[in-house]
Amino acid sequence: MSTYIVLLGAPGVGKGTQADILAQETGLVHISSGDLFREHINNKTELGALAASFMSKGELVPDDVTIAMVEERLSYSDCKKGALLDGFPRTPTQADALSVILNEKNASLSIVPYITASDEVLIERLSGRWTCRAPGHHTFHMIFSPPAKEGICDIDGSELYQRDDDTVETARKRLAVYKKQTSPLIAYYREQGKLVKIQGDQPIEGVTKELLSVLER
Ligand code: AP5
Ligand code: MG
Repeated sequence: MSTYIVLLGAPGVGKGTQADILAQETGLVHISSGDLFREHINNKTELGALAASFMSKGELVPDDVTIAMVEERLSYSDCKKGALLDGFPRTPTQADALSVILNEKNASLSIVPYITASDEVLIERLSGRWTCRAPGHHTFHMIFSPPAKEGICDIDGSELYQRDDDTVETARKRLAVYKKQTSPLIAYYREQGKLVKIQGDQPIEGVTKELLSVLER
């Protein structure tokens, strides 16, 4: 049996941080649509150029190319046991598409943890975030989760950088886009009985503990 989990929540709430930890704990693969786009940008692909034009403004990349990219990733053999999806789906159209993709695999979403925190906390987290350049895209925070050595990833020794969209201005835009285009998914998954609320406004370990207890159920 496979286990597909969608981590839902606003930009900066800790989806990527928690998905990395849960991937280690559960053996499921972590798939972040934002990281997939950033890989395309690094590799200078056509999709990367298109994605960058939306990401730099804090807007969503169009549904058709996003869905095709994630569908392809989900076809890899490391997803046979399931996956932890972070940042996808972000619109009702993407959520409908995911349900069709999983149906074709005779699978369905197991659970949708919905992580919450106040806007002030989100802005503080985004504007202090440092991200690793290596494919793992590990994240640190200059106050809440600093690396042992400034500017260097603890996990793989790569250089840390600040994402272009982690300015206060773009972060606010991303929050507004989230409220308008992604927050309808809260009701969408609540109606399906899959939504479980997780208190994101607590230390990283506390959030992980809540998530693991929910996943064990
Ligand atoms: P994406 O990369 O998905 O960004 P996001 O949703 O804006 O989410 P973030 O990565 O900013 O936040 P996160 O929840 O993962 O937080 P993190 O764990 O890093 O998307 C970027 C762009 O790509 C989008 O704007 C869009 O243009 C495009 N895109 C992506 N997917 C798309 C889709 N499906 N459709 C259309 N367009 C799409 O944590 C944040 C910081 O806080 C870190 O520094 C971390 O160390 C710290 N932190 C985490 N948890 C805690 C805690 N509990 N306490 C203290 N600090 C914490
Ligand atoms: Mg992320």
